[in-house]
Amino acid sequence: MTLLRVADLTVTLATSAGDAEAVRNLSFEIDHGEILGIAGESGSGKTMTALSIIGLLPYKGKATGSIYFDGREILTSSKKEYRDIRGKDIAMIFQDPMTSLHPMLTIETQLTEHLRHHRKVSKGSARQSALELLDTVKIPDPASALKAHAGQFSGGMRQRIAIAMALACDPKLLIADEPTTALDVTVQAGILKLLRQLRSERDLSIMIITHDLGVLSSLTDRIMIMYAGSEAESGTAPDLLLHPRHPYTQGLISALPGVARQGKVLTTIGGSPPELGNFPTGCAFHERCSYAQTSCSLEVPSVLQVSDNHRMFCPINPLAEKSVK
Ligand SMILES: Nc1ncnc2c1ncn2[C@@H]1O[C@H](COP(=O)(O)OP(=O)(O)OP(=O)(O)O)[C@@H](O)[C@H]1O
Ligand SMILES: [Mg+2]
Repeated sequence: MTLLRVADLTVTLATSAGDAEAVRNLSFEIDHGEILGIAGESGSGKTMTALSIIGLLPYKGKATGSIYFDGREILTSSKKEYRDIRGKDIAMIFQDPMTSLHPMLTIETQLTEHLRHHRKVSKGSARQSALELLDTVKIPDPASALKAHAGQFSGGMRQRIAIAMALACDPKLLIADEPTTALDVTVQAGILKLLRQLRSERDLSIMIITHDLGVLSSLTDRIMIMYAGSEAESGTAPDLLLHPRHPYTQGLISALPGVARQGKVLTTIGGSPPELGNFPTGCAFHERCSYAQTSCSLEVPSVLQVSDNHRMFCPINPLAEKSVK
């Protein structure tokens, strides 16, 4: 059952050269208990997509289209309504956990105030819930942890505490923007295991933004690849990682080291992603695409359904007969 349905989302940002679209006509869905991975090069609009869902776009940023969450349209919500949605229905964690943790307040103050604000519970019961949350995210000795400040923990432990904060009000959707990028591999594995566990225990839906092929292959059910603010391709994780059809996805996957590509030569995609306000006409990827034809600079690609759960946006479908093994 669908929890989040984003339709035709366009995000316009104010730049020194005028307004520019950072996200363009993006549509996707996340089911209850589903983990969607979003990948794409820097500047492709991943974070702006996430921020529009929680109503926190930068100053003068504007989102149009529709964001339908748990049975209602939320894009048109007021600031006050968004304050309620954030934390309670949808929570977000970032690459740097200190974004969500206050350096000067104890973990207890932060967790209990958050709980009391959203759940209107007593101090005692907020403290009990805070202890349970720290236990859920596997913080050793939760009672001592409550008395400490964020700076006293390692990066991995801080990210666990940020996840505890995010879970405090039992959200239905957790958005994680590169939550493990700053962590070393073993700590990262622990966080991924925790996210998997939370999904199965709480039926939590997760939207995870990552550059990491290992994270995509080990955690996600479905993957959406973004380029220049739009979807290039999306599909189930195995379909997308093992049989990418869009030349961009293929390039991206060939460029990333990881389990799915063991034994393959790593290649790079020539050129660099286009700058905001300067996206090429037609298919935005055409200038870097080795399959590009004249028509690619003219036609905005329409959707091509590869199978029930796999689609891509490429006007010429060059890899149709040649899936990558
Ligand atoms: N406050 C802002 N004002 C104007 N433009 C911005 C602002 N924040 C981000 N941008 C631009 O919007 C575009 C999309 O940014 P976004 O942060 O969504 O990219 P991203 O896909 O998350 O990239 P990364 O992988 O580097 O995090 C980029 O070109 C970025 O430079
Ligand atoms: Mg980002």
